Amino acid sequence: MTFLKSNLETPGPIHHRVNYLRISVTDRCNLACRYCVPKDHLPTLSHKDIARYEEILRVVRLSRDLGVTKVRITGGEPLVRKGVLDFISEVSRMPGIEDVSITTNGVLLRKNAHLLKGCGIKRLNISLDTLKPERFRFITGKNLFKEVWGGIMAAHDQGLTPIKLNAVIMRGVNDDEIEDLVALTRDYPFHVRFIEYMPMGNSKVDMEQEVLIPEIRERIETAFGPLAPVTRGVHDGPAKRFKIENAPGEVGFISPLSSHFCHECNRLRLTSTGNLRPCLLNPYEREILPSIRQGASDHELKEIIMETVRRKPVSHTLITDECSRTTSQMFTIGG
Ligand code: 5AD
Repeated sequence: MTFLKSNLETPGPIHHRVNYLRISVTDRCNLACRYCVPKDHLPTLSHKDIARYEEILRVVRLSRDLGVTKVRITGGEPLVRKGVLDFISEVSRMPGIEDVSITTNGVLLRKNAHLLKGCGIKRLNISLDTLKPERFRFITGKNLFKEVWGGIMAAHDQGLTPIKLNAVIMRGVNDDEIEDLVALTRDYPFHVRFIEYMPMGNSKVDMEQEVLIPEIRERIETAFGPLAPVTRGVHDGPAKRFKIENAPGEVGFISPLSSHFCHECNRLRLTSTGNLRPCLLNPYEREILPSIRQGASDHELKEIIMETVRRKPVSHTLITDECSRTTSQMFTIGG
């Protein structure tokens, strides 16, 4: 058996093997979640600033040559970009790409679930911070809870699995729903994942509203008894996985603040504007679009990709301190 070693490794004290590319295909979104969009206005990029599909596909192909095997499509909301299904099909058909997934807010999922399955998507992540329609409107700015729930059910009916539901808990907004969200894992095989709020850009959520994972976990164990750990799979990301008793689903914890996981980060990001980004929470970005548009060779582009991976920071600097808010916005980078 040959063992193919990824070229995307950093030297340095931390060993990063990058095999996972996350692509933001658009900065646009049909929701405006409080923790994501800036308070003031939502700038939208013009089409020429956004990477074209064939440009993104070239980056995927070259990253694949360097060791990437997993791709996630994000946004903004990826399903609002025209042609995204054909693009996803092309990515899934690319030899060497073993796993293609998508992160969506679910608004357009009801009519797209079976099409996504046809494009080679087997599993998906959906944002779901509340089960109350009125509160959904408060958090996201739109009265679309029913559409999202219908989308989740459509994906479930299509047999897409696992379906991971991402919840950002904010004190005074949805912290009274931790138990109800966990209870979903008894009724459905969903993975409900709690993600610590990351202070990004200029959002409407204050650091005082942050609820850290240890507190969430304690609340869950008080209500449901001790959480049983789930053995990690080879493709697992940063979520720590557990089950409550007799549940087909799982509970996951993603704690970028209370216990960050930089040492095991295997990700590289491509922003909607076509910049390579080695870390979600560090401002460093490396342009690749201008080189593509000026006719750079595959070799030159691979050098840019490898150089970006070498810039992966040993650890991010986001601490629970208002001053360290990153200025970047989540919707251009993709979560
Ligand atoms: N902090 C934590 N999670 C966030 N998400 C978006 N913005 C933030 C933030 N500031 C999450 C959403 C989405 C995932 C991709 O990222 O829950 O599901």
